[in-house]
Formats: sequence, structure tokens, C-alpha cells
Amino acid sequence: MRLTIRDLQKMKANGERIAMLTAYDAITARTSEAAGVPMLLVGDTLGMVVQGHDTTIPVKLDHIIYHAEIVSRVTQRPLVVGDLPFMTYHISPEQALQNAGRLVQEGGVGAVKLEGGEYMAPTIRRIVQAGIPVMAHIGLTPQSVNGFGGFRVQGKEVKTAQQLLRDAEAVQNAGAFAVVLELVPAPLAQMITKRLSIPTIGIGAGPHCDGQVQVYHDILALFDAFVPKHTRQYAKVGDTMRSAIEAYVQDVQSGAFPTAANSFDMNPEVVQALHQAEVNGSGDR
Ligand code: KIV
Repeated sequence: MRLTIRDLQKMKANGERIAMLTAYDAITARTSEAAGVPMLLVGDTLGMVVQGHDTTIPVKLDHIIYHAEIVSRVTQRPLVVGDLPFMTYHISPEQALQNAGRLVQEGGVGAVKLEGGEYMAPTIRRIVQAGIPVMAHIGLTPQSVNGFGGFRVQGKEVKTAQQLLRDAEAVQNAGAFAVVLELVPAPLAQMITKRLSIPTIGIGAGPHCDGQVQVYHDILALFDAFVPKHTRQYAKVGDTMRSAIEAYVQDVQSGAFPTAANSFDMNPEVVQALHQAEVNGSGDR
């Protein structure tokens, strides 16, 4: 049975912490499900870690739908959340609803995520009223990286921290079932977490959130452009991949691979007949 937003909310009520992870492909989605991840995010970080862009801004709705369809189809239990990319929900609540609907219908997700606080409340309300669960995302909202002037911690001063508190309450009041807090100082994230009844999911927001979201390329050290302070590398899969591929290249070059063990044999009589036909010049041309 697939988990629902109610299960996630019960986890907060029971003090059970929520480990969310990004997934963009079948192998990662299946592995994460097998490892017990209750909520998978088909995030627009795929623009950086899959497509090789510097930001998430170039990601299109069709890209998220493509990856979301895979992740939803190959998993049974985790709640799959799909990101609404840059400019797919900013123009009007109607535009947002239409695109959220595509993500649910074509991508198979159980919920959508969008960036923005107080000013996004009418949009969140519109989508939620149509029966589509919304996860909000406040703090450092990467689609606004140009407006922020870089990937920076948000809410470090009284005024900006108060705005984030208002943002958190506004998205909850608009009907969001959870909220991502990205690059928010830990004491502020703790205040927000205490104040809200919906789960807070932190990334670079300290240890007091109800859950955590990480990009799997970061926790497996697959993304090597930079190592974000907010992550922990649980395995050096990137290094393992590179040495495995180097060994493969060397084996091909030296002739050590493939061997008979990797090859398919043929009946010796067929081989003999083939040679004979070549000698007689009667082979098919
Ligand atoms: O797109 C994404 O992966 C995200 C997480 C970093 C929260 O939004």
C-alpha cells in the first residue's frame, strides 16, 4: 500500500522522523524503497545532478513528468512527490493547478512540491482545493537563486527570520501537508517545527526538523562539482564507479575482457560446415 500524506502527518504526531530522498530513475527508486525510504522526491535538482546544469532553472515540466512516471511506476510504498519547475506555477493559480494536474496524471505522483511562502498561499490553496496535496518549500528556494545572489542561508536576521515564520504559517494555513526548510539556521528551523502541526523536512536546517531530505547524488558522493555542507557522504560511490570503469577500460585494452566465460559457444559441426562453405565459395553473400 502506498503511503499517503496522512501517514506522513501521523509520523510527525508519533515523533517518528521522516527520511526523504530524491530519485529520478528506476534503480535508485527501487533501492530506496528497499532501504525503507517513505517519501521520494522527483526534484528539479535533476537539472544539476542528471542534466549537468549549474542551477535548477532550465528544468521543464516534461522532464519532471518523464522521471516521475518511472519512479511512481516502479515503486509500491513510498509517497512520490514531484517538483513543479521554474515558471510552471508563478503566473497564476490556474496555471499552477493545470501543471500540478499534469504531474499527477502523467507522472503518477501523489503530491507536488513548489517553492515559495506567504505569496504562494493562494496558489497552494487552489491546488489543494482540487484534491492535489502540496508540499511547500521555503528558505533558500533554488529556483530564485538569481534573486538571492547565490545559494545562501536564509533568515539569519530578525526581519528575514520573522518573514520565514510567517511563510511557514501561511503555507500551513493554505493547506500544505508538509514544508521543506532549506538552508535555514537550526534555531529558526526548530521554532518553525514547534509552531507547525505539519511536518517540516529540513535540508541544511539543523537537527530539529521532523524529517530530512537529501539528494542521493550527494549522500553517495556521486556529484563532485562541490560538496554541500548540509550533506553527509555515506559511501564514495563516485570513486568506486570511476575505478571500476578504469579497470574495464584497461581490461578491454589489454584483451583481459571479454573471456570465454563472457562469450557464447557454437556447435563445432556448424563451425566446421561454415569454414567448408567459405572454402568452397558457397557462403551466402
Ligand atoms: O529538487 C530537489 O531535490 C529539492 C530538494 C533539494 C529539497 O528541492
